[in-house]
Amino acid sequence: MDLIKESFQSSAKKIDSTSMKRIELNHTRNRIQDNSPELDRLALNFNYSDCRHQYWNPEQFSFFWGTPLWDQSSQHQRTILNQLYWVAYYSQIISAEIATIFFNQTSAAGLYGIEDFRSVCDTLDLESAQERAHIHAFKTVNEAFEEEVFGKRIFSYPMRGPYVDTMINANTSRSKEFWRGLQLKGFAVMSSSRAFLGCQYFTVRGLRTLNGKIVQHKLSQFHSNNPQKDNSSIPSLISYHHFLDESFHFNSSLLISVEVLKMLAPPTPFESWIANRGIEGSQKDHFNFSSVMTGLFWYDPALFQKSYDILRSPVFAMNHQEAVTMLEACFTTEHEGLHQSALSRQVAMESYLDYLNKIPYLNKTNLGLSIMSKNSIQKHLEQNRKCFREFKNKINKSQLLYAN
Ligand SMILES: [Fe+2]
Ligand SMILES: [Fe+2]
Repeated sequence: MDLIKESFQSSAKKIDSTSMKRIELNHTRNRIQDNSPELDRLALNFNYSDCRHQYWNPEQFSFFWGTPLWDQSSQHQRTILNQLYWVAYYSQIISAEIATIFFNQTSAAGLYGIEDFRSVCDTLDLESAQERAHIHAFKTVNEAFEEEVFGKRIFSYPMRGPYVDTMINANTSRSKEFWRGLQLKGFAVMSSSRAFLGCQYFTVRGLRTLNGKIVQHKLSQFHSNNPQKDNSSIPSLISYHHFLDESFHFNSSLLISVEVLKMLAPPTPFESWIANRGIEGSQKDHFNFSSVMTGLFWYDPALFQKSYDILRSPVFAMNHQEAVTMLEACFTTEHEGLHQSALSRQVAMESYLDYLNKIPYLNKTNLGLSIMSKNSIQKHLEQNRKCFREFKNKINKSQLLYAN
């Protein structure tokens, strides 16, 4: 009996049966409502020609919405920009979900190593399987759309592993990516053997999901508020069913990062340091916002070339000079789209502050979001102007070479 008691005490501080019941209930409800089969069915039936003339999102969720490009675009071009937002947005979500699948498993390994957390591990297993269905649905639409409209990849990418930068279109370099990969590998090993770090991953996941929840709720409403639901496009239906699954994932992030954490022994100074570094990393990932893509914290200079390719494609059919002039107006001046994007980041930050207040081991940099707070519309524009000058020089030169 003493042996049993001893092993129990060394693993967890105190099991809170109310919190465990909430975790079990969240898992049961998610399992009953599981949208994976429906998402697989939607992916199977997707045919771009069935929905090529439809918006897939509310109008504000269009690539380049509120910019000079949007103002001068035809109805057909606006429809493509609206669909392109869906493709760009869920390309980012695919990357985040590839990482989620992996860290769900390493965290479950850490938690399964101590007593009484089976239901948490079962929750994570279900969520990982759901993410695979989500990724499959997004990837099917994204690749078919880009093939049909541009004949090449713009935002989509071939399947990849979890050690690359989760944020696509980030302010990064080869050396930063290499360092990031090493950090992720180190964290994966540690979180699979330390339950606290396993739970801490859910604080990061919870933060990321908060912004996702704000945006994806609006995307899902495009179907739920549609008076003619039978006419909703398959991508809109995917947004809707995905959000239904993700509501449970958000709950489990919150339960694991706040409730389960309370049941574990307090972190060592080293574990607290690692945990705070993880949240600081999320602040850095969410430092930027985009003038042309609301709801994601993309680094605009990483979008210059892709946007140029879009404007030169048959959809917009601009010549070199027209494309450069238009991009300069969209990325380096103030417009409604930029203000909308800055506002959506502000809303996300307010929800982050509220959430982080519940976490006991955070330092001041994280509690006050002092990294994210340093960016502003003015700084954003200065950065875009500087980088756009460099981009313009580079693309003008390559255009000249091509002409010769
Ligand atoms: Fe998902
Ligand atoms: Fe999820």
